Amino acid sequence: MNIFKITILASLIHFLYYNNTMKNVKYKLFSEEPVQIGPESGYDNYIMAIESSCDETACAIVENGRKVISNVVASQIKTHAQFGGVIPEIAAREHMDSINIVIEEALKQAKENANLEPHDITAFAGTVGPGLVGCLLVGLNAAKTLALTYDKPFIGVNHLNAHLCGNYLDTDLKPPFMALLVSGGHTQIIDVKSYSEQTILGETIDDAVGEAYDKVARLIGLPYPGGPKLDKLAQEGNPFAYKLPESKVDGYNFSFSGLKTAVLRLVKSFGGKDIPVNDICASFQETVSSTLLHKLKKALKQSGYKQVVIAGGVAANSEIRKKIFALENEGYKVFAPPMKYCTDNAAMVASCAYFNTNTFDDIDTEVFSRVKN
Ligand code: KG4
Ligand code: ZN
Repeated sequence: MNIFKITILASLIHFLYYNNTMKNVKYKLFSEEPVQIGPESGYDNYIMAIESSCDETACAIVENGRKVISNVVASQIKTHAQFGGVIPEIAAREHMDSINIVIEEALKQAKENANLEPHDITAFAGTVGPGLVGCLLVGLNAAKTLALTYDKPFIGVNHLNAHLCGNYLDTDLKPPFMALLVSGGHTQIIDVKSYSEQTILGETIDDAVGEAYDKVARLIGLPYPGGPKLDKLAQEGNPFAYKLPESKVDGYNFSFSGLKTAVLRLVKSFGGKDIPVNDICASFQETVSSTLLHKLKKALKQSGYKQVVIAGGVAANSEIRKKIFALENEGYKVFAPPMKYCTDNAAMVASCAYFNTNTFDDIDTEVFSRVKN
């Protein structure tokens, strides 16, 4: 082939790629053999994913983005509880200890559940960020190594997108829909237009919801992880015992630091004696859940969408779930992942690798710690 033909071919590939015509085609790493991935591929895809962005080491295999073949999570909660929060260096070391175990267990489950062997896997995926860099590196390098070993494509996945995709697992959810993403690091209202097209309508300008839960839990003396414990106590209290301030931020953005300070003042006002912990937790939970729902409803009305989803670790919260499911009485179809897919897991990462096929896919893809705009 002469240089003229090569140039035309290169331009054509470039044109097709950037017009998304080829976005679903990934390549085997050594042989450069094309592999079709995604809902339009027409092939059954089995994606093995690894998640290690914070304090869970997880590995899962998912068929066509929805059917979970295996799902293994090793939690580090016990280790970090003694420090009152996640210590990044210790977390990274624990990932090192657990990574091979979760991979082996996921492969064992896949063999038992679907007679699936490693060479049957279509592609290997790993979380690239946002998260703790040392932790991400462990999982991502494991995923890349598997891709190289089995000569399959590698797909890097954004952790926040993955949380949203947790809603595709075991459901028939299809975009468009409005999403409320609430985790330890993020609070966002997202307009999901298609599997790969989404717009963030609003987010927190200070603390994330999970962060606010964990901080309030700490100031009333609850052990790490505070969010679920605060939720439990709140269910025993009176949600209208104390009037706490709702954030006054415009549009679809949120702010939770003022609420956190108000709880601090309230706790101090008891001078350390007979603090009505359950009522304080219930009032805090009522304020947070009302604020979230208020803005989410506004976004739903504006968009005209009839489907709404909740995602992220805080989607496990009882009151937020109750309020969002109440939207079904107003004619909306509500999706919320079961508890095991709310907190960090790899099944959601595998689903995301399948549906968001135009994410990263170079073997030298780097990890990142913060949200990329
Ligand atoms: O999504 P996730 O597992 O990790 C991040 O990506 O951040 O979310 C963890 C966060 C923590 O802040 C935890 O306290 C919170 O989710 N969380 C809860 C509940 N379960 C987990 N917050 C309130 N109520 C819960 N039931
Ligand atoms: Zn998460």
